Amino acid sequence: MRRIAMISEKGGTGKTTTAINVAVGLAKAGSRVLVCDLDPQSNASLVFLEGRGAESPTIGAVLLDQADAHDAIRPTSTLGLDILPADVSLADANLALASEVGRERRLRVALEEVRDRYDVVVLDTSPQRSLLTVNALVFAEEVYVPIDPGLFAVAGLGQLQATVDEVRRYLDNRALRIAALILTRCRNDNVGRDVESQLRQMFGELVRRTTVPTNAKIEEAHSRYQSVLDYAPRSAGAKAYAELVLEIIADGRTTNGARGTPDGPAATHHAA
Ligand SMILES: Nc1ncnc2c1ncn2[C@@H]1O[C@H](COP(=O)(O)OP(=O)(O)OP(=O)(O)O)[C@@H](O)[C@H]1O
Ligand SMILES: [Mg+2]
Repeated sequence: MRRIAMISEKGGTGKTTTAINVAVGLAKAGSRVLVCDLDPQSNASLVFLEGRGAESPTIGAVLLDQADAHDAIRPTSTLGLDILPADVSLADANLALASEVGRERRLRVALEEVRDRYDVVVLDTSPQRSLLTVNALVFAEEVYVPIDPGLFAVAGLGQLQATVDEVRRYLDNRALRIAALILTRCRNDNVGRDVESQLRQMFGELVRRTTVPTNAKIEEAHSRYQSVLDYAPRSAGAKAYAELVLEIIADGRTTNGARGTPDGPAATHHAA
């Protein structure tokens, strides 16, 4: 099971949009996908539940061990795609979690019981640092960082890397890594082009080849509670997300291949 978390400590960089479209894209490509909404704003839940607030139990109750993940997960209108939704009560659950035993590992433990049901779990998180984000990092393997390539785009990345290192070390998740920086909301202007080339110079292949343009259809799709892949499949936004999904699928194949042959060329490459 692949475990992907959308994380950035900046607000509005495209975490939720990328979670929605990557999840829908992977499901359309035949994967069994679960989206977990770890943001009390619950925007992803709103889209996948088509504007209806989530009935209880939601993910907050699961984290507080008041409900099983099985009972909180709902199907969506996309075949093969389920959601473990949030609502505003997740903010209170986050506070209550602080005094619970195993507070950082609650999501990881809760999702153990559904691991056979899914090929991919996609987590959407909020920009605030919180126990919810730590739970995402303890569960996840691949951190995807959506970046809006405006000024100060790189601020916060060093802190995120430090947090990832801490979770690897102190919370025993050795598999965790920043797997991709995804440029979203790209504009074809001087600042956008400069920031993109700086990021590619600094981070090399970590920056996904595919970038997502600023595209009004993406925002319109949300207001109709749809992914842009469904709402406007021929739009530039949909084409970019479809392309990104292909990259993510290809990436999964190489990573799995590398894991299968620890002494093979991939391992040598990492050591070099
Ligand atoms: N490529 C794009 N083109 C146009 N609008 C976009 C694009 N990506 C995201 N948006 C819009 O920008 C806003 C912020 O995007 P989104 O909610 O995905 O960011 P976020 O990182 O999840 O925000 P938060 O940190 O608040 O959770 C939304 O209104 C969304 O519809
Ligand atoms: Mg969001």
